[in-house]
Parts: sequence; C-alpha cells; structure tokens
Amino acid sequence: MQFSTRYILGFALVLCLISSTLLSITAVSLRGKQETNRQLDKKKSVLMACNISKPEKSELSDAEWIAEEFATFEAQIVNLSTGEVVATGEEADSFDPDLIERIPVETNPAQIVDVPKEVRVFHRKDENGKLDTIVFPIYGKGLWSTMKGFLAVKADLNTIYGITYYSHGETPGLGGEVDNPKWKAHWPNRKIFDADGKVAIKVIKGSAGPQAQDPHSVDGLSGATITSRGVGAMMQYWFSDKGYGPYLKKLQEGKA
Ligand SMILES: Cc1cc2nc3c(=O)[nH]c(=O)nc-3n(C[C@H](O)[C@H](O)[C@H](O)COP(=O)(O)O)c2cc1C
Repeated sequence: MQFSTRYILGFALVLCLISSTLLSITAVSLRGKQETNRQLDKKKSVLMACNISKPEKSELSDAEWIAEEFATFEAQIVNLSTGEVVATGEEADSFDPDLIERIPVETNPAQIVDVPKEVRVFHRKDENGKLDTIVFPIYGKGLWSTMKGFLAVKADLNTIYGITYYSHGETPGLGGEVDNPKWKAHWPNRKIFDADGKVAIKVIKGSAGPQAQDPHSVDGLSGATITSRGVGAMMQYWFSDKGYGPYLKKLQEGKA
C-alpha cells in the first residue's frame, strides 16, 4: 500500500502533536513531585553536613527518615546585614529562599554577585536542649559553576562539624570531588577563625597537617585548584562581616 506525501506529513504532524502534549502533561504533573524531592535532597544535605546518615537497618523510607531527623533542627531566618533573627517556627519552615529579594554585592574572590536579604540557618540542639550545631547555607563560584552547599559549625561558632555540596557543575573526578565523602572527611574539627577572630580557614594546594597543628587548612582537590580556591573563597566570604559576621556576633552576645 502506498501513502501520499501529504498523508505521511499529516501523520507525522499529528504524532508530534500527541507526543508533545503527553510530554507537557507529564512534565506539569511531575513538577510538584520534583519540587518535593528537591526539598528532601536539600534537607538530606543539611543532615549530611552534620554527619548524620540513614542507618542501614532503618525500616523508614528516605522521606520518613529525613522528616524524623529534621525534627531535631530548628530553622531561623536571619537578616544578613543586621544579623537579626526575623522569623522562627512555622514561618521559618515555610521560607522559600528563591522568593527572597537579592542584594547586589561588591566584586569578591568568591565571585558572588548578589546575596539574599534573608537566609535560613538551622540550629540543632543536644538531648539537654543546648545548642550543639548551626548549619549555614554557603555558595560561590568554582571553575564551571556556582557550588551550593552547607557548612555545619559547632556551638563554639568556630569548629567545623562538616561540609556538604548539594548542587554544582564541576567536572566529575576533578572539581566534582567536592561532594566526595573522602574529601569532606578532611573538614571536621578544622577551625574557621584564628585567635584574632579573622577568617583563617583555607583550602591549600596539597595536604594539610593534622588538625591540632594546622587547624585552618584543608587539603586541596588534586587537579582542581580553581574549584579548591572557590571553596576557600566562599568560606572567606560567608564567615566575614559581609556574610554571617553580624549574625555570629549576635549569637556570641546571646542576642540570637
Ligand atoms: C576537561 C577538563 C575539566 C576540568 N575540570 C576542572 C574542575 O572541575 N575544577 C578545576 O579546578 N579544574 C578543572 N580542570 C583543570 C583546570 O583547567 C586547571 O588546569 C586546574 O584547575 C589547575 O589545577 P592543578 O594546578 O591542580 O592542576 C579541568 C581541566 C580539563 C581539561
């Protein structure tokens, strides 16, 4: 049986229309689920920054386990420039960082162009209700991408608990090693500030010494000096007065 050119073109057009309609419907109907998964992934990253991982024996689903662990965290919305806490509780839980006004900033080594007016940090208390850890969102440029993650800091506001990156576009095996647990294991117990209160943590080329003798250095990623430099620069930015400095001051004074 022979089909005319007009029939074949018409058939192809109808097929394209049906496929694109089905694709659009699928994309729209999955949007909610994708957003939920994105939020879950972010929460999991907060837990990972605190070195909390799901026990192998756990019978809970990932979502249930994350919800259970996350209940031990309290979100605070912080005004970056004043360091004041502007919301806690449900208001802080439903905070959407993507909807917050952004403020352009001066040129800086972390290549941060603008910052949100307000950020959400997470407090974790120990079993006696005492502050144990604060998890800070961090971001800055690597070689190819903006790397986004969390740095967890102990209640002394200086000792690092852990680091994690949940979004980056660095090269797998090179800069992409920022999310390798082996590299992240170099961070716990290193110190952010020196004795004068200056941000001293840096990512060096090569290997850092033991944390007792070399508390402010972290091993660089081999073959990824630019990504490593980006990680160091974002630490410098976020823990300076331009970043969390005002909030850290308020915490030290017991006013946050
Ligand atoms: C395909 C390709 C991908 C690369 N990806 C990265 C990367 O993700 N991060 C990075 O810092 N350097 C990356 N580099 C290397 C940089 O171009 C640069 O040479 C390197 O940062 C220098 O670091 P080194 O002194 O540790 O070798 C990549 C190079 C190539 C050819």
